[in-house]
This record gives sequence, structure tokens and C-alpha cells, in this order.
Amino acid sequence: MSLIYVIMGVSGSGKTTVGKALAEQLGFPFLDADDFHPQQNIAKMQAGKALNDTDRQPWLEQLNLELRKHKDTGVVLACSALKAAYRELLEKDIKIHWTHLQGDFELIQARMQLRSHFMPAALLQSQFDALEPLEQGLTLDIDSEIEFLVNMIRARYETKGPAHWGIVGMGVMGQSLALNAVDSKIRTAVYNRIAPGEELVIAKMLSKYTNPKLYGYTDWKEFTDKLTLPRKILLMIPAGKAIDAVIEELMPFLSPGDCIVDGGNSHFSDTESRIKKLQKLDIEYLGMGVSGGEEGARVGPAMMPGGSKIAYKALEPILKKIAAKDPKGNACVGYLGGGGCGHLVKTVHNGIEYAEMQLLAELYALIGLTDLPRAEFAALFKQWNSGETASYLMSIMPSILDKKEGDSYLVDLILDEAAHKGTGAWTAHTALDYGQDASIISTALNMRYHSTAQWFRDLAKPKNRKLNIVLNFEQLINGYQAARILNHLQGLRLIKAVSDAKDWQVDLAEVTRIWTDGCIIKSHLIEQLHQQLKENPNQLEAWCFAQYQQYSEALKVAVNTGISNDLALPVFSAALQFGLAINDPETTANIIQAQRDFFGAHTYKRKDKDREQNFHTDWTKP
Ligand code: 6PG
Repeated sequence: MSLIYVIMGVSGSGKTTVGKALAEQLGFPFLDADDFHPQQNIAKMQAGKALNDTDRQPWLEQLNLELRKHKDTGVVLACSALKAAYRELLEKDIKIHWTHLQGDFELIQARMQLRSHFMPAALLQSQFDALEPLEQGLTLDIDSEIEFLVNMIRARYETKGPAHWGIVGMGVMGQSLALNAVDSKIRTAVYNRIAPGEELVIAKMLSKYTNPKLYGYTDWKEFTDKLTLPRKILLMIPAGKAIDAVIEELMPFLSPGDCIVDGGNSHFSDTESRIKKLQKLDIEYLGMGVSGGEEGARVGPAMMPGGSKIAYKALEPILKKIAAKDPKGNACVGYLGGGGCGHLVKTVHNGIEYAEMQLLAELYALIGLTDLPRAEFAALFKQWNSGETASYLMSIMPSILDKKEGDSYLVDLILDEAAHKGTGAWTAHTALDYGQDASIISTALNMRYHSTAQWFRDLAKPKNRKLNIVLNFEQLINGYQAARILNHLQGLRLIKAVSDAKDWQVDLAEVTRIWTDGCIIKSHLIEQLHQQLKENPNQLEAWCFAQYQQYSEALKVAVNTGISNDLALPVFSAALQFGLAINDPETTANIIQAQRDFFGAHTYKRKDKDREQNFHTDWTKP
């Protein structure tokens, strides 16, 4: 096992800073290759001239001799080592752990202009020209925290180094995130409790995945001892009391400055209280929505963090590595703001998801009215998964609709009672608490409730749905699109309302960017909304309204078709009603105000008078 580390890269890439930090952690001496240049080399560089191979040869030979002196005790050297031939000279008769720090020309140039060094910034181009990429070893992007770079180097070359982070709770999501992280070369310690039925979770995981960067524990001390400081611990356990219980158990093993991240679907107000409580104990707490299900967690989820910015910054390099990538290649994760905003955003994401799912279910029911052979349904949904109506949820419909068990379609055998875990209800509650109209989302939730109201359903008579009516499928999909636009508008308005009330300053453009990939509601529409919010943040309503109007007639036709065929289309209808309401400058609230004033003297305001003034009328007086 070699103990010689060389950090290479062009001048200004941060080799010295990273090398020194690495040497300090390893307890090794640090050598800076610049200190070994013969005087004539320094003079040449100061004169603005690039060194050639002949100039560098004696310097590299000298460095090789220096490295040999430390080969049994360890050393870290920062050296440009730009060419393969130079690296060969350095590695003569010894084995080196190579790390190349690479970065953009512009970034490095800007850094060089800020420092004082005998190498003028003007020589940087010659360094880039000479640079031959490292063939074997580790190449790291310099646009990361020093601590992260050092950890990555240790993870690459040590077999038993500390873990970059820990994950508590090895359910499906916890395991998938852990495997995603180790795939990205992030050393990950995982913890699962010993509880009835869970005794072998860690043992089985470690025997199934024999990755040397994965460490498993069932003991808090061993788990927390394995983590680099400040500890970064992601909780992937059920929301609610379990989170508080685990925090309580963890606390005796934590140090000030350690970071805890709740990656479950917690209520944002619980996250807010935990932030406050843990702040007093010097623990940085982050509430982070994680979307994408098992598959997303394994290959790249969308993550919505809010709370301690310090915790986010400590976790950022890891999160960026494991996240899905947006269409521009940026990670689908980003700090959203303080307090519980990350969990609020995830909750509303799920609310939007409920309505998206119900709209697809209603679309399926509408098609069921026509004479389209059942075997062709999947193809129709497949065709709709393109252009404006493309989405992850649309993309899974063909597989769902085509799945057979014997001669039957599996969906026909599934009991039509929908379950839920609470986030849809929280979205609806939050909308009510903050005076927002989330009728589309609430209706989708109500239909899940209705589906389980068996006594109601027992009273209803079975219907023969196959009516062979003729439907214009293009119109149908346009009506569906109209409803989706308003669903997203309601969700985004709700996030903004809560963020404004709490002064979280959540940026909807960033929220929608994070949602462009990895999450359940990723879609072409989300990409359009992101573009719109980025370019015209104050025009969200106007844009959605204009989009909606293109298809509003189609939505009317869809809803009318349902009504005239006794088919309930609650979410299509809720969207249409919301659309009709926002398209009307007048409301019926004048009658409500009159009624309130009649029976309760609650007073009213007048259109023809100052809005500050309140009026009361004795309505019974002739
Ligand atoms: C996701 C999902 C995920 C899960 C929810 C919804 O974004 O990956 O939203 O969080 O599907 O728990 O579940 P329910 O439908 O059971 O409420």
C-alpha cells in the first residue's frame, strides 16, 4: 500500500490548499513542488516564459528523490505534473496515489488573478496546452468544497477511511440512496435498528452489496464514530414520532456542528420546531423532500432541502453527486430557503402528484366510454407521452394498462380503493390555513377518501360503461392539459403564499428546476413552467392563464361528456370550475356579503364608495 499522494493540476487549481488539508488529516508532511524549482526556472517563469521539458527534468528528478525519503511514512506533494512523461519521472521506483484537480480555464484564471505567485496568470494557457489528462488515478472537479475533495481522495485510496456521511433507516429509500452514493464513490455508513423483523437488515445488505465504501452498523456509537466531522446524517425513516425518537437516541453521540437531514415526508411545521430545538444544541438541521420513489433514489432523485444553510453547504457536494440532472446537466437539488420550506415544497409536490394521478385516472375512464378496443388503450397513452403532455406519470400508464394476469388486465383486478400517506391532506390543510384555493388538489384527495367509503358505494347501481360514444381524442387530451395547467398553478401559488407568509423567499424558478427530473411530477409542463418562471417570474398567472385558455373549450367538452354519460370526473370538473372562476372579473360574493350582513350585521363594503368604509343595512325595513 503506497503512502505517497500527489495532487496535480495546472497552476491555480488549488493543489496546495487541497494537498495541505489532506496532509493534515493524514498526519503526513506536505511538500510543495514550487519550493524545489531551481532558481533559473523561477526566473524564467517570472519573466513570463513557460518552462520546457528540459527545464523541468532536474526538478522532477529532485522531487522523486524527496518522495522516496517518505515512502514508508507517507507524504503529500502538490505538483503540476502536467505530462505523462513528467509523472513517469516522479513515479520512478515508487508508487503514487495520483489526484488531478481539474477546472475551467476561466475559473482558474480568475483565481490566479487574485493571488500573488511567481507564476503569472498569463502563463496559464501554456499550462493548459501542456496538460495531458491523468490516465490512472482520481480526477476531481475543483468546484467543490475542500473538505469534500479531501474526503474523495481518502475514499479513493484508503480502504478503511472515515465515511463521508451516514444514512439512518435501511428501508427501500434508505438502501437505494446508500447504493446510489457508493456508486458515486461516496463512502457511506448506514444504520438500521435491531427491532423485531429488522434484525438482519444490515447483515443482509452488507452481504448482498460488498462495496468497500459501504459500512453497516446497528450500534449508534460505532455508526457515529465512522463519520467525518462535522457528521452528516440523513434520516430515511417514517415521518412523525420516529424522527424525534431517533434524534433523541442520536444526540449523545453527536458533537456541536454536526448536521442532521430529515429526508422523509415530514410536515413542514414539525421540521420548523426541530430546527429551533436543535439549534439550541448546536446541531444543524435540514428538512429535505426526496422524490422519485425507489428507482429515483437509486439512480438520481430530485431533492428539496430547506432549513440550516450550513448543513446544506456541508451536504451539497454529496447531494449534487447523487441527484438526478436537469436538462442542462445541473443537479436536481438546491437550497430553497430557511425553516420548513423544503418539506413544504415536497408536500405540495405530492399534492400536485395526487391531482396528476387522478386526472390520468379520469382520462382512462373517459376513454372507457368509447368503442376503442381495450387492447389499444396503452398505445394511446404512449402516443400522449410526447410533446406538451409528456410526463413521468403519463409514461408509466402504458405499462400499467397493458399488464395482464392470465386473460385479465391487472388493473381490472385491483380493488378500487386508494390509499394515501398524508401529504395530499397536508397540502389541502395548508391551503385552507393560508387562504389559498387548492380545489383541484383537494378534489383529488377527496376522491381517494370517496373510494374507501364503501357504504356509499354499496348504494350505487353498477353501470355499463361501454357506451361506444364517439370522442375526439385530440380534444380530450387538450382538456386534460388544461386541467393540469391549473393544477400546477394552484400548487405553485400555494408554495408562494406560505413562503411569503413565513418570509422564506422560496424561488419558484428553482423549485421547478429541481422538479424537471428525478421526481414523480417531472414533465414537459414543469420544464415550460421553469422556463417561464426564470424569464418572467411575475408572469406565472398570466402565462398559465393564456395556456389554459387555448384548451379551455376542450376541458368543457370533456366535463360535459362525463356529465351527459353519468360519469364522475371530479378533478376535470374542479379544474373547469376554477378556470371559469378565474376567467370572470365578477364573483357571487356580493350575495354572500348581503346574507352575512342580513343575519349577523357583519357589514359590507360598496363598489361605489371608499373601500375603507363598512356599511350595514336593515334588510327587512321597507
Ligand atoms: C415521491 C412520492 C413519494 C410517495 C408519496 C405519496 O415524490 O417519490 O411522492 O413520496 O409516492 O409518499 O404517497 P401516497 O400516495 O401514499 O400519499
